[in-house]
Amino acid sequence: MKEQELYLCAMQILDGQLVAGAVKEELTIRVAQLVAEGRKVPHLAAILVGNNGASETYIGSKVKTCQDIGFKSTLIRLPEDISEFKLLNSIHDLNRDPDVDGILVQLPLPKSISDENVINAIDPFKDVDGFHPSNAGRMLQGLPTFLPATPHGIMLLLEHYKIDTRGLHAVVIGRSNIVGRPMSILLSNNSNPGNCTVTICHSHTKNLDEICRSADIIVAALGRAEFVTGDMVKEGAIVIDVGITRVPDSTKKRGYVIRGDVQFSTVATKCSFITPVPGGVGPMTIAALMKNTYKACIDKN
Ligand code: GUN
Repeated sequence: MKEQELYLCAMQILDGQLVAGAVKEELTIRVAQLVAEGRKVPHLAAILVGNNGASETYIGSKVKTCQDIGFKSTLIRLPEDISEFKLLNSIHDLNRDPDVDGILVQLPLPKSISDENVINAIDPFKDVDGFHPSNAGRMLQGLPTFLPATPHGIMLLLEHYKIDTRGLHAVVIGRSNIVGRPMSILLSNNSNPGNCTVTICHSHTKNLDEICRSADIIVAALGRAEFVTGDMVKEGAIVIDVGITRVPDSTKKRGYVIRGDVQFSTVATKCSFITPVPGGVGPMTIAALMKNTYKACIDKN
């Protein structure tokens, strides 16, 4: 058997759909217990500004998952041209509402609205995205807090597959506050999974290909379809694909296909573990958000 075929055989898909299903099943049981005890069920309030197609899809999945597992959910739709002042007022109302446990404002927001002002307005105890500076600071210090859903979901996936990341070189491509930065912190924590030596790469990184080839773990979170190709990946690497880009495709009924940041066809044959798109990180992000919402409810009530 050729060496490449050997790796093909050894490669394992990190099945986010399966692991997220297990997380949701556990939460469903816990919610049923809350109901049986006459206690309050978790309530997630989500705000969607405008009608960006991808955001509609993501928020739709979040609300549907709440319904599936027995959480209460409220979706607040606001027009694209809403003022920042009015959006902040909606957040203040949710902060004051004792029935609401978790609040999320789907990003990106229209350019006229400051992400920073919006994130800062959310009560940190209801900030189930973990984006508020006080929660981001707590994460940085390794204190209990809400971890941002995508990196949290990836850590749960690594944990489920019992991947020993200790001492590995992790290369995170992308430095967003939503994924790249928190991912780099969690992977470098003194934890399991964790204890990685982390390199964070961005648009100004020199020799990106070379750095990727030295990686034991690659987390691709830059938002460019099929950016990571087989020649950038070391044999046996663990590859986590965070990308979900809509690539126009006139042969499809909906007019596009979803592609990750990783070129699956050339990378999968070289790596030891890989997340598919769809069905990898996406479902884990939602599962982690649900865990955070449950935590918000339990901590408060
Ligand atoms: N946009 C892309 N990812 C996220 C996320 O995790 N939370 C929110 N609120 N918006 C996003």
